[in-house]
Amino acid sequence: MIRRGFLALFVVASWVSGACAQSDLVKRGDYLVNGLLTCGNCHTPKGPSGDIMDKAFSGGLSWDEPPFKVTAPNITPDTESGIGKYTDDELKRLLRKGIKRDGKRVAMVMPSGFYEIMTDRDLDAVIAYLRTLKPIKNAVPDPIYKMEQGHPIPPGGERPYSEGMLNDRLKRGFYLTTIAHCMECHTPMGQHGRDFNGKLGAGGAEFPGPWGVSVSRNITSSKTSGIGGWTDEDIKRAITRGISKDGRKLSPPMGYGYYANMSAVDLNAIVAYLRTVPPID
Ligand code: HEC
Ligand code: HEC
Repeated sequence: MIRRGFLALFVVASWVSGACAQSDLVKRGDYLVNGLLTCGNCHTPKGPSGDIMDKAFSGGLSWDEPPFKVTAPNITPDTESGIGKYTDDELKRLLRKGIKRDGKRVAMVMPSGFYEIMTDRDLDAVIAYLRTLKPIKNAVPDPIYKMEQGHPIPPGGERPYSEGMLNDRLKRGFYLTTIAHCMECHTPMGQHGRDFNGKLGAGGAEFPGPWGVSVSRNITSSKTSGIGGWTDEDIKRAITRGISKDGRKLSPPMGYGYYANMSAVDLNAIVAYLRTVPPID
């Protein structure tokens, strides 16, 4: 009798701890998706005053560029127009490897190469969170690929990090900067895609939009052209509030409002890592 009671208690306790682990995972996913990862910056439709939150994640920006004509699709769990039919394994393959459910490579604008580094737990967390979204019916036009799509992986981001590596401040900073795909926007194009090995963080990429054309800035540690002469507070203000050192308001598409959700520990780690990016004048 006592033993049976004990067993029942054990079963309840492990069910409760399983449910807690799941809710921790969803919380972590929420933090990442609506913060650092800026998924909604592409996948949520925009109105004159920013993201249309009651249609969050139901399909967003469009691009018509030499390699593709695509719209960021609906990533809510709707089974017809969203990702409801994707299994967890298929979602993992899509996020890390950039291969869609139909086996085709996703358009390069989806930064899957920057998610190769993602820890197994963070990948699980993102997927667990996506599964909790309200399903919304909204089909976007099919993608048109005008050439073979690449899957650029930034150097150092080829393999998944372990959770333990995130305890090291600089590794954590590099990890977060990678999954936030900062260097994708802040590195100019070279002969074969972004010049990560020669011009990492040098800026100069152009982003046309309703705001005009914004040009990504030099965020290397250069004291003259980069952010080497900025204080930590200057850098944090630029990332989370979109205000440059001289007080100028910065333009989209950088997801300042998303980055504002970052924890102090994560923001400090990013600043610490940016200080180590070799200067380019
Ligand atoms: C820079 C813009 C951008 C960001 C940031 C972005 N995506 Fe995407 N994503 C796209 C585009 C564009 C496509 C569609 C490409 C295609 O159809 O080939 C896509 C495709 C997808 C797909 C495949 C959907 C399908 O119907 O096959 C999923 C799932 C997805 N993204 C999830 C995410 C998640 C989760 C995040 C954040 C971790 C994210 N995306 C961040 C632009 C983006
Ligand atoms: C989608 C592209 C994109 C992403 C992703 C992005 N940025 Fe930016 N960033 C820009 C652009 C474009 C500007 C310049 C805006 C302007 O001048 O109005 C900018 C400006 C900045 C500035 C201000 C520099 C200055 O001289 O005023 C800093 C600092 C910065 N980004 C750091 C980061 C960091 C760190 C990340 C990742 C957490 C990041 N950016 C992610 C596009 C991006």
